[in-house]
Amino acid sequence: MKSSFRAPSNIALVKYWGKYGVQLPSNPSISFTLDACATETSLELQDSPGISVALDGVDTPSFVPKVAQFVERIAERHPWITRYGLRVETHNTFPHSSGIASSASGMSALALCVVDLAVRLGHELPDPRQEASVLARLGSGSACRSVYGGLVVWGETPSVAGSSQEFGLRYPGEVHEVFRTYRDTVALVDVGQKAVSSTAGHQLMEAHPFRTQRFAQAHDHLAALKPILAAGDLDAFIELVELEALTLHGLMMSSRPSYILMRPHTLQIIEAIRTFRRESGVPISFTLDAGANVHILYPDSHEQTALAFVKEQVKPWCKDGRTIADRVGQGPVSLQ
Ligand code: PMV
Repeated sequence: MKSSFRAPSNIALVKYWGKYGVQLPSNPSISFTLDACATETSLELQDSPGISVALDGVDTPSFVPKVAQFVERIAERHPWITRYGLRVETHNTFPHSSGIASSASGMSALALCVVDLAVRLGHELPDPRQEASVLARLGSGSACRSVYGGLVVWGETPSVAGSSQEFGLRYPGEVHEVFRTYRDTVALVDVGQKAVSSTAGHQLMEAHPFRTQRFAQAHDHLAALKPILAAGDLDAFIELVELEALTLHGLMMSSRPSYILMRPHTLQIIEAIRTFRRESGVPISFTLDAGANVHILYPDSHEQTALAFVKEQVKPWCKDGRTIADRVGQGPVSLQ
């Protein structure tokens, strides 16, 4: 039996940074699910025991421990899986050397395959997509948001009814048209391995001097986004999203030990975006994940202007001039 899914990556607007227990978030987050940056994964159940993983058609034993840990974590909910050998074949649609984390898309795709197989084997699941989100979370926290398209919330917060620590929830509030087709051009600044992993970064939040204020701020930001998303208030959106990105990196810079994941070119691009926005009035903005790359966000109605700006003023700061054109996507698809 075999199942195959394509699942996209996502980019957070309000950032998850800090966790406890088994991948439970210290604060709520919300993200845009992307489209072009995705992982295509198939999972085959085999009679003979053991796990094997192929990346881009090449057996990659270094990926086996990650899948084994995932299986160990989900076995409590899905004991049936331990009775089979597992063959995973996976492929990222974005270049391996892009510095784009594949854990969100990869774990989401794998979780969707597991849930699909569980259903086909006759296991009763009241809400298979929600179950996939729980499993994806156990693989990699932010992956739980990639099982749905559009805007997805993870982490219980009073302003979003139905939000949960355990799984991502398709954002239930009103969303203005402008945010349904938003663009994200990813400027690839540093395509190497990150100096400090997200896992280590989450851990540093445990003793962070600003943790209490930060976690409270994330709840406030989620609540503040509600009217912004409903009204399509781009100025307020830009202010909040950029503050979140810089706060994330501010938390890294004020951790013990402190560290910096932005590179000089990250700042050059941020400066260029803010100057261009001020001078042209075009609502182009940025966010950052836990790395040096810059996600350049803008409404699709400004695409031509934004792309001309990226070509002239952003690409010179990118590694080999590389960018990835992405946008808000519809979520995962089954590939069988
Ligand atoms: O899911 P993780 O452990 O890779 O953490 C991701 C954290 C950020 O990307 C920085 C923020 C987020 O909410 O996705």
